[in-house]
Amino acid sequence: VPADKPVEARRQTTHKLETMDRYWRIWCRILAQATAFPFCTRHLWLVDTMAGTGIHESISDRGGRVPGTPFQAVLAARATQAEFLEVTVHVRAIDKKKDYVAELDKLFDRYRLQTPSVDAQTYPNDWVEVVPGISAEIAGKADHPFRASIYGHQHRSLWLIDPFGLEPLRYDVIDALPRWSEVIVNFDGNAARRHAAKNLSLLEHVYRDDRWRQATDAEGYAQAFMDQFPRFTIRNLYPLWPSGSQDRFLIHLTTSKAAIRPFRSSVTNGLKAGTIAAGDLLNTPQKHAAALSLQERFAGLELAVDEMYAAGAGFTKQQLRLVCQVADELGCGKWLAKALRMTWFIECEPDPTFGL
Ligand SMILES: C[S@@+](CC[C@H](N)C(=O)[O-])C[C@H]1O[C@@H](n2cnc3c(N)ncnc32)[C@H](O)[C@@H]1O
Repeated sequence: VPADKPVEARRQTTHKLETMDRYWRIWCRILAQATAFPFCTRHLWLVDTMAGTGIHESISDRGGRVPGTPFQAVLAARATQAEFLEVTVHVRAIDKKKDYVAELDKLFDRYRLQTPSVDAQTYPNDWVEVVPGISAEIAGKADHPFRASIYGHQHRSLWLIDPFGLEPLRYDVIDALPRWSEVIVNFDGNAARRHAAKNLSLLEHVYRDDRWRQATDAEGYAQAFMDQFPRFTIRNLYPLWPSGSQDRFLIHLTTSKAAIRPFRSSVTNGLKAGTIAAGDLLNTPQKHAAALSLQERFAGLELAVDEMYAAGAGFTKQQLRLVCQVADELGCGKWLAKALRMTWFIECEPDPTFGL
């Protein structure tokens, strides 16, 4: 399905976006609070290696658009920095298409200039060219105090590798990612199967050796891809909602046991959101709609979550927290995450990013 169709026509893209919107945020939040461990959480990195334009058209969204993965990363960075003042989240977004990167820069500018400012850098390059520089930055950032450790600051980074096909995947580049990195690869198992049947040369830089020959189905090819990275001691794969001829898997590579559950629940909740199995879960268009309707209702007021709940806002307290966060991102108010208080603006700021 062509990428210019609304996101609802690409169920597997929706599933990916709902998963990543949750996981960028949860990952930052968990690490920002992980201050009792022998690594430095003052600086975190979110790296989107194949970023796209940062926007997807959406027919169910009130503004007609939902954030793509690099824009989600910027919003996660902003939310984390607003809640944890001592933490800086660096966003690095790469796409080899110059016009896509120009779009990203337009989106990001607003968040670079606001307080807290997000350090969001873009690169109009092949990701393979840019990875060494970003890795060196992560390893070398030591201009701030941290108690001594023989491994230095051990900064954490989360990398998303999300190609359309298999062509940009390079096992050697993934294997050389920074020591304490965590990696998510969106892997098209059916494409691997098709290439195995004809275009073998393409698989040469996807796979280290020919153990993929034992694979019999799309999942087997994804599994063979994942298992060639033993340096990531924890490797899991999760099917994305299938669409068309694609059988895609989100491959999760990490060395941290603590990351398994949050990622798994991001995938599961990302799948349920917006379906009849959603329960209390809201998807992105629902969060946007809720933010705008609460702004209309509470315009000009400064309220605690408990007060909005008691006023019969129509959402659970947990939902209200998420919706207030999103309303802040849409320019409809100022959310204080620690105090659980929201100042609703009389009018939402005209927001170029969501086309409101
Ligand atoms: C599936 S799209 C990314 C969508 C985005 N992650 C999202 O979900 O919003 C893949 C992108 O990778 C870019 N791309 C393809 N090969 C690349 C490479 N070698 N280096 C960097 N970007 C690449 C394409 O231009 C395209 O925009």
